[in-house]
Amino acid sequence: MQHLSSLTAPPPEAEEPSVLVPTMGALHDGHATLIRAAREIAGTGGSVLVSIFVNPLQFDRPSDLAGYPRTLESDLALCRDLGVDVVFTPHAEEFYAPDHSIKVSESLLSRGLCGSSRPGHFDGVCTVVLKLFSALQPTAAVFGQKDYQQLAIIRRLVRDLAIPVEIHGIETVRERNGLALSSRNSGLSPAHHTDAARINRALHAARDLRSNGEQRCEVYLEAARHHLLHEAPPGMRIDYLELVDRDTLQPLSRVTGPALLATAVFYDDVRLIDNVEV
Ligand code: PAJ
Repeated sequence: MQHLSSLTAPPPEAEEPSVLVPTMGALHDGHATLIRAAREIAGTGGSVLVSIFVNPLQFDRPSDLAGYPRTLESDLALCRDLGVDVVFTPHAEEFYAPDHSIKVSESLLSRGLCGSSRPGHFDGVCTVVLKLFSALQPTAAVFGQKDYQQLAIIRRLVRDLAIPVEIHGIETVRERNGLALSSRNSGLSPAHHTDAARINRALHAARDLRSNGEQRCEVYLEAARHHLLHEAPPGMRIDYLELVDRDTLQPLSRVTGPALLATAVFYDDVRLIDNVEV
């Protein structure tokens, strides 16, 4: 008999790795990079699972949910090309019972950044990710660092609820001009698409102050704000711009250790996020 007295004891060995990439579809090269990483982690004997589900629980604006791009046919073709073993595409009405009444709630890491501008968003993310983990039972899952706060919260989710899924974070995949790939980029006008390269430029311009030993947060934030707004086109506005501790995600007043400069920007109705480590 195996006698476990501690929650930190290793879970029983799974037979073969199965690695999940949760997505909301409208797949692009960022997702493809996650799927390739999942294949590496799974190895030849393991399997790669991709879920495609536009999760209504994590949308705070009904118009955002209704307008979210849906490209299932080309998503399935891409998964096939990438050698994905299982694609899971549940329907919201079947996935969530009409009287579902349980949700997972995170109360610390989700306070700032996207959490404060999108109320309930991360509860929706935690709930769907836990449900996908329960339904598909992967041994590992892969997430992108573009959604840095999401990744930190998922790591906290598996730690706090002792979920036996290994979490992997993958670097942000970008266009040549630095714009982070996003399913939402397809909603930008051509002019806004070109202009949106300023988001990453602004974060880097501010980040470069670190090499001068700058510690004052307001100096970083002012530099980033200047680059974000300088001759910005009509329709562009900053949703948030924050400098936070990289582990706790709490706002800083001085940069003395690992920090994260993160922003969300609207171009008309399209909300884009990006971050850079400082
Ligand atoms: P979605 O926006 O489709 O993103 C799915 C995964 O792809 C996330 O882990 C995200 O961080 C990653 N990703 C998106 N763009 C990326 C890029 N340019 N470079 C690297 N990785 C990128 O995030 C979600 O869906 C949902 O919240 C989800 C986790 C599926 C829960 O519903």
